Order: sequence, then C-alpha cells, then structure tokens
Amino acid sequence: MRTCNNKAQLQAFVQQYRKEGLTVAFVPTMGNLHQGHLDLVRKAHKLCDVVIVSIFVNPLQFGPNEDLDAYPRTMAADKEKLFSEGVQLLYAPCVEDIYPQGMEQQTVVSVPDLGDTLCGSSRPGHFDGVTTVVNKLLNIVQPDSAIFGEKDFQQLSIVRKMVDDLCMPVTIVGVATTRDEDGLALSSRNGYLSPEERSIAPLLHQTLNTCREAIACGFDNFLQLESHARMQLLQAGFEPDYFAIRDARTLQTVTEDSEEVAILAAARLGNTRLIDNVRLSLNPVGDWRMLADG
Ligand code: PAF
Repeated sequence: MRTCNNKAQLQAFVQQYRKEGLTVAFVPTMGNLHQGHLDLVRKAHKLCDVVIVSIFVNPLQFGPNEDLDAYPRTMAADKEKLFSEGVQLLYAPCVEDIYPQGMEQQTVVSVPDLGDTLCGSSRPGHFDGVTTVVNKLLNIVQPDSAIFGEKDFQQLSIVRKMVDDLCMPVTIVGVATTRDEDGLALSSRNGYLSPEERSIAPLLHQTLNTCREAIACGFDNFLQLESHARMQLLQAGFEPDYFAIRDARTLQTVTEDSEEVAILAAARLGNTRLIDNVRLSLNPVGDWRMLADG
C-alpha cells in the first residue's frame, strides 16, 4: 500500500492508474477505522480495480465547541487495517494540503435545505464543511465511484445532491450501516462511551426499530410516534437532539407523494453524540415496508 501526504503525489499515481486503464473507487474517512469503514472498502473493491482511502480529520466540519482536538487519531492502526484489506493507496494529507490559503479563504460549497435540517440545525456549518472537503477530495482523486456509509444518511443525501447539482462525474454509492451484535451502529465516537453508557446505547437503534415496526403495522400518527420515542430515549438517559420521521428524499415532513421514509435520530449519551436511522419504502399497494438497514 502506498501512502501519499500531498495531492501532487496522489495525482501522479492516479494518472498512472488511468494510463493502465484501471478504474478507481474512493473511500473518504476521518480515520479511527472500524469494521464499518472496512465494509466500505470491501464494497469499493467490488466496484473498481483500485481502491484509494483518505484519512483527514477535517477541521472545517467541526463547530467551535465540538471534539476536533479530542477526535481519535490512530494512523498506525488504521494503516495496518487498510493494508490487510488490500487498499492500494492511502491519501493522508495535512491541513495545509487541503486548505493552502487557510480555512477563512476557502470557497465553501453549501447544499441548501437538505443541509439546514436535523443535524444541520444542531451543528450549524457542519454540512458546509463536509460538502466543501468532499468536493475537494473528489476533485483531487477524480474517482469513478465514491463510497459512503448509510449511517450518516443526511450526509449521504447531501453529497448525492451536491454531485448531481454540480454535474460531478462520479457515482456515489451508499453502504448499509454496520452494527455490533446488539444493534449499535459502529462509529468512531462509540469509543467515548463509558461501560454504562455503552450498555444503554443500543436503545437508540431499538427505539428506531420500534417506531419503524409501528409504521409498518399501519400506525400513521407520526407526531405521536416521534414524541413517544423521544420520551423513551429521555427515560433511558439520552438527551435527544431529534427523533424525526421524514421523507427519505427531501428530509422534510412525509407527504402523500413520499415513496420512502427515513426515521432519523441524534441523541447525546453523556458527552457522546450518537446518530442512527432506519428506513421504510411504500410497496405497490400503498403500505409501508421496512427496508434492510444492515
Ligand atoms: O463521514 C466522514 O467520516 C466525514 O464526514 C467525511 C465524509 C470523510 C468528510 O470529512
């Protein structure tokens, strides 16, 4: 596995792959890799000849009071994992390689509406930071496909819209959430949980599932379902940020035109903010059907 720390080096390798007629899949990450990331890499191998992974903790997507400094950086262990997965190239730039003029001078890519709701309301500026860095990384790597996890469902929707709106020549591929046996979605932030918090954490997914089952059984008072779920999370010790039943395409309220529903939640457990989601689609006779969520 080759490691490049700057974009000129990386682009020289990509040019060489292209000369050899090879296709390229790209997996952007912030490191501290777990099985969820490795599942993205496995999907990438299925799609293309060469797999490139980036590790870059992007300061532009962290708010002033968020965990940028504490965010786990585990480069040596990450490299070993990527090597074992047969990744051909790791791009691990420093902040100056991505933001040579500094972050204040950086042109920002902002996706309207989709980026303003849910995590966008509680983390102002977060998605502008994500779309700006993803746009830059895609322009640097110029892959055929880029792979993202469905755990960050809002992020995936926003990236898809950016690529579509800006006519970017890349296919965005979503991969189902990887979960621990008790249902907790794998996340780099799970490592912040104390043993007691870790034992409560799977309740987030259970609450999403209970809500999804209720909808699949025909219960259609979504406001009641949302407030019941928030109450359950509060009682279990979470501080819910949102628990929302939304149209999966627009991330706005479900309407009679909605064909797929996403139930999305973000909640704090101690100092750790967890997010998760599950989905349902409308079947041909007009009933909601649960979709596999990994
Ligand atoms: O999902 C992440 O790890 C990050 O938001 C991403 C897509 C790598 C951009 O920094």
